[in-house]
Amino acid sequence: MNYQVIIPAAGQGKRMKAGKNKQFIELNETPIIIHTLKVFEEHTQCSGIILVINEAEKADFQYLIEKFRIQKVLQFVLGGTERQYSVYNGLKAVKDDELVLVHDGARPFVTQKRIENLVEKAVDTGAAILAVPVKDTIKKVEEGIVSETVERSTLWSVQTPQAFQIKLLLEAHDKARSEGYLGTDDASLLERVGRPVSIVTGDYTNIKITTPEDLYIAEAILKRNEEKK
Ligand code: CTP
Ligand code: MG
Repeated sequence: MNYQVIIPAAGQGKRMKAGKNKQFIELNETPIIIHTLKVFEEHTQCSGIILVINEAEKADFQYLIEKFRIQKVLQFVLGGTERQYSVYNGLKAVKDDELVLVHDGARPFVTQKRIENLVEKAVDTGAAILAVPVKDTIKKVEEGIVSETVERSTLWSVQTPQAFQIKLLLEAHDKARSEGYLGTDDASLLERVGRPVSIVTGDYTNIKITTPEDLYIAEAILKRNEEKK
């Protein structure tokens, strides 16, 4: 099934400490956001991209999209102060398709195969997300003291894309908004209203580029991808 994808890229990249929005950091002479956009540009089921950006960076994004010949960006939408608000603004601009994906601009290594697995699941269930089993032991800590060790086999590290029937995601966002709830991902907005969200196993290489160390890991993943071509 065809889908539109909302790509939030309106953050500030504070944890990257690069002095600019991390979307513009180059890997192999190509900005991170372009790596991300290319995945969807090349995916036939993707009927359009809604790119969520900061107003002050609009000209920079426009320039890059022309330079790298990205053709599926249907609209630029202005972001909000939180990721959730940025996605919401993007969601308001989605038209036509039944299915919508949300994918972080800073997550350039998702594969076509995983997107297909995800879309298939979301068509079946209404809501699906990519995730990988947690490798570390995770503990809950209160005031410097461990309060609980969470059973690892139940823990998954969640990624994007996350795929939804548009109607379900809009309902969940509207409800969160009216109740002042702020979540760190879109699926959590459905979970809190009791909507089941399915897991699709992803890849550990689908990292979100967040802190400076991630750039080294990203370079290694890119090198491996180039070698596999
Ligand atoms: N994002 C957004 N609008 C915001 C915050 C985040 O569109 N108000 C986007 C980011 O641009 C990124 C994705 O959401 O592509 C995931 O967010 P994150 O990794 O936290 O990026 P930043 O918010 O830019 O980084 P930081 O939290 O370190 O400042
Ligand atoms: Mg952030």
